[in-house]
Amino acid sequence: MTTNIQNQWSSQMGFILAAIGSAVGLGNIWKFPYLTGEYGGGAFVIIYLICVVLMGLPIMMAEVLLGKRGAGSPVASMRNLAKEAGQSRLWQLLGWLGVIAGFLVLSYYSVIAGWTLDYVWNSASGTFATNNTPAAIKSIFTDLTSNPTYLLILHSIFMLVTIIILARGVQGGLERAVKFMIPALFVVLIMLLAYAISTPKFMDGVHFMFDINFNKFFYPDGENFSGKGILVAMGQAFFSLSLGMGAIMVYGAYLPKDASIAKTTAIVAFADTLVAILAGLIIFPIVFSNGLEPNAGVGLVFQTLPIAFGQMPFGNIFGSLFFLLLTLAALSSAISLIEPAIAWLVETGKCARVSATIVIGIATWLLGFVTIFSFNEWSEFKLFSMNMFELIDYVTSNIMLPLGGILMAIFVAWLMKSEDVTSELKVSAQNFGYQIWNFLLRYIIPLAVTLVFLNAIGIF
Ligand code: PFF
Repeated sequence: MTTNIQNQWSSQMGFILAAIGSAVGLGNIWKFPYLTGEYGGGAFVIIYLICVVLMGLPIMMAEVLLGKRGAGSPVASMRNLAKEAGQSRLWQLLGWLGVIAGFLVLSYYSVIAGWTLDYVWNSASGTFATNNTPAAIKSIFTDLTSNPTYLLILHSIFMLVTIIILARGVQGGLERAVKFMIPALFVVLIMLLAYAISTPKFMDGVHFMFDINFNKFFYPDGENFSGKGILVAMGQAFFSLSLGMGAIMVYGAYLPKDASIAKTTAIVAFADTLVAILAGLIIFPIVFSNGLEPNAGVGLVFQTLPIAFGQMPFGNIFGSLFFLLLTLAALSSAISLIEPAIAWLVETGKCARVSATIVIGIATWLLGFVTIFSFNEWSEFKLFSMNMFELIDYVTSNIMLPLGGILMAIFVAWLMKSEDVTSELKVSAQNFGYQIWNFLLRYIIPLAVTLVFLNAIGIF
């Protein structure tokens, strides 16, 4: 097999940490709460959870399996596996889809991560403590997003750090950082949860997240049916678990041969979901206790958490620590977003790792300008009634990732030899868990994703 993967994780634990590092990021703490707020709460959460269990988990197993067996960048892995299974070389296009999706996602992800960086400073300098009204905190956020020069500086810093870490290679940069970052993030989240519980409207937040109201979900304007919430919940499951674009596939390629795919992926999916739910349980009580609206959109987290930090003892320290950890969590996700592209460029043999990283990093940085201007100069420029940032986000999360995901499901369950699959999973074909998994991949997932897609384009 043609492979250029020289690095192996030091252990199964190294893989778990890195995959959690990829999965846990802005998707959990920034995106999940604001989507939940926009799509009306509990109904969105339950559909999201169903997607995680019935699609996310099985596809994550399939994706890790493809990476482990393909042992290369997503493009090379798919080429190797298609050859082994006697299938068309065109399957490497799946790898390409991932390379492009990762590049597109990172271009905006880095801009949002720049916001978190700014909030580290704002917390530390006491800005939130001295401006502690919801209105003042909201205007700090609006001032930030309306200043393209400042956004560009923040985006540049984030991209630069990402490039430096990536250029140094897989093991050194990643494993060490994630090991302390995730537990620390978790501790700060638990502290914030304690604060949320102490707010007067904690239970309102809980009800908002868990009371299931499908009426609001399917009839957002009170009259016309819309299935868009399902598409978005599904897209978010893929996004949050880093699925469908080869990030997890690349990490799978670095997995030691004797590691357990089922166990490792279950741990990763559980941790990722826990962080998202915690973030919601923290943010919505603050929303309701301060008379804010849950559907504030992309600014939700940035307009709510600072209120908490402004009020709690030692809020400056905890606030800056929280946003620093969030920036680091974003960094470990960012790294995985362009790892497929870098692994592929290195593999072609035309480029050393450092130059591959720089070339792709600069291209991503440039594309980030589009997102920066979407929040200010170009905010009125819309296609399909979305600004450019929303469009990139919509196309990647809701179309490219689920599409990548079903193609992986189909490849593993229909095209690979079942003995190859079972030998990677180290189970027999009679194993009950295996059979359920295979059934989901074969029938349920392709069917469900197709139905959601058809609904989104208005076919039924
Ligand atoms: N899962 C990351 C998050 O929730 O922030 C984002 C992400 C990383 C998506 C890597 C896709 C990916 F391949």
